[in-house]
Amino acid sequence: MSQALKAESAAPETAPMKDMKEIVALCKRRGFIFPASDIYGGINGFWDFGPLGVELKNNLRDLWWKHMVLTPPLGPEGTEYAGQPVEIVGLDSAIIQNPKAWVASGHVGGFSDPMVDCRETKLRYRADHLLVYKPKSGDGPWLAIMENTEDDEIEKRIKKVGKGKAADYEVHKLVDLPAAEFTHIIGPDTKTVGTLTEPKQFNLMFHTFIGATGGDENKAYLRPETAQGIFLNFKNVLDSSRVRVPFGIAQVGKAFRNEVNPRNFIFRSREFEQMEMEWFCHPNEAKIWREFWFQERQKFWRAIGLRSDNLRMRDHDQDELSHYAKEGLGTADIEYRFPFTAPDFGELEGIAHRCDFDLTQHQEHSKVKLEYMDPVTQEKFFPHVIEPAAGLTRGVLALLTEGFTPDPNRPSGVYLDFHPSVAPKKAAILPLTAKDEHPVLATKLYMEVREHFNIDLDIKQNIGKRYARQDEIGTPFCFTIDDQTVQDKTLTVRHRNTMKQDRINMDNVVEYMQKNMLLATGRG
Ligand code: GAP
Repeated sequence: MSQALKAESAAPETAPMKDMKEIVALCKRRGFIFPASDIYGGINGFWDFGPLGVELKNNLRDLWWKHMVLTPPLGPEGTEYAGQPVEIVGLDSAIIQNPKAWVASGHVGGFSDPMVDCRETKLRYRADHLLVYKPKSGDGPWLAIMENTEDDEIEKRIKKVGKGKAADYEVHKLVDLPAAEFTHIIGPDTKTVGTLTEPKQFNLMFHTFIGATGGDENKAYLRPETAQGIFLNFKNVLDSSRVRVPFGIAQVGKAFRNEVNPRNFIFRSREFEQMEMEWFCHPNEAKIWREFWFQERQKFWRAIGLRSDNLRMRDHDQDELSHYAKEGLGTADIEYRFPFTAPDFGELEGIAHRCDFDLTQHQEHSKVKLEYMDPVTQEKFFPHVIEPAAGLTRGVLALLTEGFTPDPNRPSGVYLDFHPSVAPKKAAILPLTAKDEHPVLATKLYMEVREHFNIDLDIKQNIGKRYARQDEIGTPFCFTIDDQTVQDKTLTVRHRNTMKQDRINMDNVVEYMQKNMLLATGRG
């Protein structure tokens, strides 16, 4: 990254408040993200990416692919792998696999969340997301309220159906209370006491039927994670390519989970995309590689613009660990401070030590040998897996919320401070007026520069409005063609964050951008 851009992207001392409602509104207004089936009133947990959203998402996907598959990092210092690029190959497996695969992986039996129903409203809640406000005095009903509810909303709810103020209540997790006590509780969306059912496990996998006839024998599942497609192809990849342990297989694609409470915009949706890499290594080296991927993955998110103080690593507690990670070195999440979790953090990526759980399970269920034989030592073993599993959709949300910068000093009132590598449009070419030679020169320049970068040509409206639009979509540079351009071929470059303007020669635009748009590799 150039010094100029580094200075420009420097974070302000005190981060301004970011309002999710404003972010969601901007995403719709400017064509980043729309509710799916918008004209029919939407469909809960599903979202469509608009013209700019798809560019932003593709940029993040491509940067991840570059970092993992095309230019993977050098191996860990102090090991025999130092100084050599690690080996990672790509994959694109089917969304629907043989249902036996999901039995082996543990998803049919265990991929579930505890949920409670309200008998009156028929609404369903994640039991582990509900808090119960119990009056300290022991007098009056107990109120169930969703975690992360804003303080003023809690006070309003207490005023409506309880007594006093939040300070008069002690707070418990619903899942910590015996079901016999649910008779005292008023559910989140009713005024009646005792309508919540006991928690029941609810499987999160979407299912469908293959072929023309329904019936359980034709039931199949939409994948709830991209990871399993990788384990199913472990042998195919080994047999068809020259990779040897340690190596990784990377995949980006859709995953589907019938989440009980989709919420917080695209943070928890029912259809989303993941970027997962399964790193196969010798069991004795799992610790080294786990540490390596912790570091690499944090570097990646920082290099594409997430501020260090909005990122943190958090180890899972023993009771949070997934079935496949119980025996190993544990799981840690890279968490990001989203506006709806602030001052706390929410999961952006999980890095798990899956041990040999998946390969041994699939060997047992498929009866196909999946053990690895080291060609040099002839040692036979099941590789252990370190899995950096990131959300592509959630990454887009982190980039949008990080970039969203309210600024009362500019007409748009806000700009998106995207790192240039993720910005949907890298520059806009703007003729000052729609007459004379301005549009002719602008179009000529646009035709040249679009061969190198994704850029916009915007001819109509007054220049202030066009700058405002580019600020709101996070375009780092605007090149404006005016009368002087006609005379001496110079044009102005307006920088998004500072609004400062320079003058450069029209012939140097591509070079100027190349200098300033160096793609972040995470290792620079
Ligand atoms: N293969 C391991 C696995 O799937 P996970 O923690 O369940 O692990 C990995 O998912 C990442 O996928 C999460 O860190 C998150 O970024 C993303 N993710 C999971 N569920 C999601 C949902 N309902 N909506 C959006 N993103 C989700």
